[in-house]
Amino acid sequence: MTNIAIFASGTGSNARKIIDYFEGSENVKIRLIVSNKQTAKVLDIAKEKDIPSLVINRTEFYQSENILEKFSIYEVNFVVLAGFLLLIPEYLVTAFPQRMINIHPALLPKYGGKGMFGMNVHKAVYEAQEKTSGITIHYVNNAYDEGGIIFQTECELKEQDQPEDIARKVQALEHHYFPKVIEQLVLQKDYSS
Ligand code: GAR
Repeated sequence: MTNIAIFASGTGSNARKIIDYFEGSENVKIRLIVSNKQTAKVLDIAKEKDIPSLVINRTEFYQSENILEKFSIYEVNFVVLAGFLLLIPEYLVTAFPQRMINIHPALLPKYGGKGMFGMNVHKAVYEAQEKTSGITIHYVNNAYDEGGIIFQTECELKEQDQPEDIARKVQALEHHYFPKVIEQLVLQKDYSS
């Protein structure tokens, strides 16, 4: 079984899609939801779906490796970042080599890096008058948005598209492809040990 921990700081719409997609799966189980925000909506989803959740304290996250103990309780062997905004500390990257992935709401390497999340990304794409945007799913390393790219797909932008329209188009791609890409990875490689 691939036991996934989903990290999210926000509304968790991607987390919900992933949870729904793998409900009843024989290969994948969402074992833990992790957030750095006590008020994150994703925690309500965890409660609704009866999935254990963990709110992490920033200092503890960076200065201890306590989260690894939680991971071992839930036998987590794969990590999915779905709108998680803290940089992942080195010990965690090292503990999950090629087993931690992130989704980014643009076509990396453009529009990535520190501070590039959510609407900030879509506003930058809008201001640059890009004709396309899209999503990138990539492995996580020690730098924001720089790990090896696993999957990208694009959407066309119209001249009249505002940042909110870009966000909508990109989110539709995220919801459609993110669970499927996770499934592909799990089918290709055995993460269960
Ligand atoms: C998603 O669009 C994701 O790509 C983005 O945060 C959003 C979370 O939405 N992540 C980043 O910008 C990371 N740099 P959600 O909470 O509705 O799933």
